[in-house]
Amino acid sequence: MYDFFFGSSQDIENDPQTWLLSIKRMLPRWPNGIPDSEFLALFDLLNQYDYESTCTPNKRPVLIETGSGASTIVLLYFACKWNTCLYTWDIASTKLAFLRGVLNDTLFRQFRDLNMFNYWKYIAYDSTNQYAGIPILKETNDTVCAAFYDSEHTWQVLGSEIAATMPFLCNGAILAIDDANYAYKESNTAYINMLRTKLDLPAVTVSNNECRPFWEEVESLLSQKFPRVKNLDGGTYRQNYQDDIFWSYYSSDRNNMNKLGMEKLENLAYRFEAWKVFLN
Ligand SMILES: C[S@@+](CC[C@H](N)C(=O)[O-])C[C@H]1O[C@@H](n2cnc3c(N)ncnc32)[C@H](O)[C@@H]1O
Repeated sequence: MYDFFFGSSQDIENDPQTWLLSIKRMLPRWPNGIPDSEFLALFDLLNQYDYESTCTPNKRPVLIETGSGASTIVLLYFACKWNTCLYTWDIASTKLAFLRGVLNDTLFRQFRDLNMFNYWKYIAYDSTNQYAGIPILKETNDTVCAAFYDSEHTWQVLGSEIAATMPFLCNGAILAIDDANYAYKESNTAYINMLRTKLDLPAVTVSNNECRPFWEEVESLLSQKFPRVKNLDGGTYRQNYQDDIFWSYYSSDRNNMNKLGMEKLENLAYRFEAWKVFLN
């Protein structure tokens, strides 16, 4: 179904960015949760990353992701290129199964000698769970060189995900988040109210539910643990988001989501944020 011809293997190697974006653009809306400019900003961050320098004799640096979708395409591409592995957590098992089909038809046509199951470990469970969530990394003996967080947009979940990852981050690791401009402490009321609106129920306001914008909370959490934290200023996202055709292509649902508070249109420049952390 997704097995289109995007050029020879050599063409793809020469311009992986265009190829990856073509795969993203074939997705239906529901697993295509990030704008193209954010997808490409992730690509740019990883493309500039010196993976080899993070490797140590006994530990393998891996990539991790919470919340699957378009982001999985770009992260798994680098897992294949670097001969490592991407761990993805998503409670939606059917979304992971759908993506497995897309990735098989696309990425693994290019990387046909690789076995997807060795390069993509997808876990259809809560990312914060002690026994099957991010904490399993202590049992796999892996370190983390790159992490992208895009699951439940509350500080309760995002903060737990980052705290769970921190013990495993290698020197120079990259962390990136979607919806960095959200500020919900425990309940994502924008999403809740979108669901309630569809049920003809009135919107709710939850008291004591506001935290600082996620980007600020993340930066302060990382700064408590790491001697040096470099804010990457939104990577290339901040330079390119305004020209992104994603906004106009999906304008009818995004404008209505904005009315319900889900899409922070006035604050789009701060949707994507990334950091590099240093152990010394
Ligand atoms: C916004 S979507 C992810 C979009 C995706 N990154 C993309 O690029 O298209 C959020 C996903 O997070 C998942 N999710 C929500 N809470 C979760 C949790 N605690 N653990 C794992 N997955 C979770 C949802 O099932 C949903 O598929």
